[in-house]
Amino acid sequence: MRPTIRSLVPADAPALLDLYRAASGPGSGLARTAGETDLPWAEGVIAQSLARGVTLGAFDADERLIGELHALRLTPRSFEHVLGDLTIGCRPDAQGQGVGAALFEAVFAWSAAASPRIQRIELFCREGNVGGLRLYQRMGFVPEGRLKARLVLADGTVEDDIVLGRTF
Ligand SMILES: CC(C)(COP(=O)(O)OP(=O)(O)OC[C@H]1O[C@@H](n2cnc3c(N)ncnc32)[C@H](O)[C@@H]1OP(=O)(O)O)[C@@H](O)C(=O)NCCC(=O)NCCS
Repeated sequence: MRPTIRSLVPADAPALLDLYRAASGPGSGLARTAGETDLPWAEGVIAQSLARGVTLGAFDADERLIGELHALRLTPRSFEHVLGDLTIGCRPDAQGQGVGAALFEAVFAWSAAASPRIQRIELFCREGNVGGLRLYQRMGFVPEGRLKARLVLADGTVEDDIVLGRTF
């Protein structure tokens, strides 16, 4: 699927909330559960991303938000060439159709045009999110390290977080 991709605006907050609640079901790679999201959270994601980074939404032909990626430029200044705190989610009924890959292509294009230049994008992925790890490596991210026992899942399982980075 070739979604339409555009930057989100504050009015997209209810759709963003709905998307992340849908994407955070059992087996999801998202650390934040649906119960930890509300409208102020979604409004905050958009406001912070517009101020300090990027929020890109993927829309289907019916203009339904089916995927989103947001990330922040790190601080202080020695880190401002780094885009981090990256989160991506797609609606379950839109997964496996290239929406995630299209969002990464879009954030690469955004990064290339950003000033000052983005020279590194980094993200964390829990070790059990095998599909996510495959997608990130296909998009050019390289596993750089393992943070031991960083997550405890809802069922009590303890997992490591994998750090992945891509430089430009
Ligand atoms: C992880 C996630 C963002 C990936 O997004 P996605 O849109 O499903 O990713 P893509 O479709 O681009 O790629 C995933 C698979 O679909 C396949 N695919 C890509 N384009 C396709 C197309 N046009 N048609 C069919 N399949 C396609 C890819 O080959 C890939 O398959 P593989 O994993 O077997 O290699 C999504 O699954 C998701 O939201 N998961 C829940 C939340 C989550 O885990 N977020 C990440 C936290 S780290």
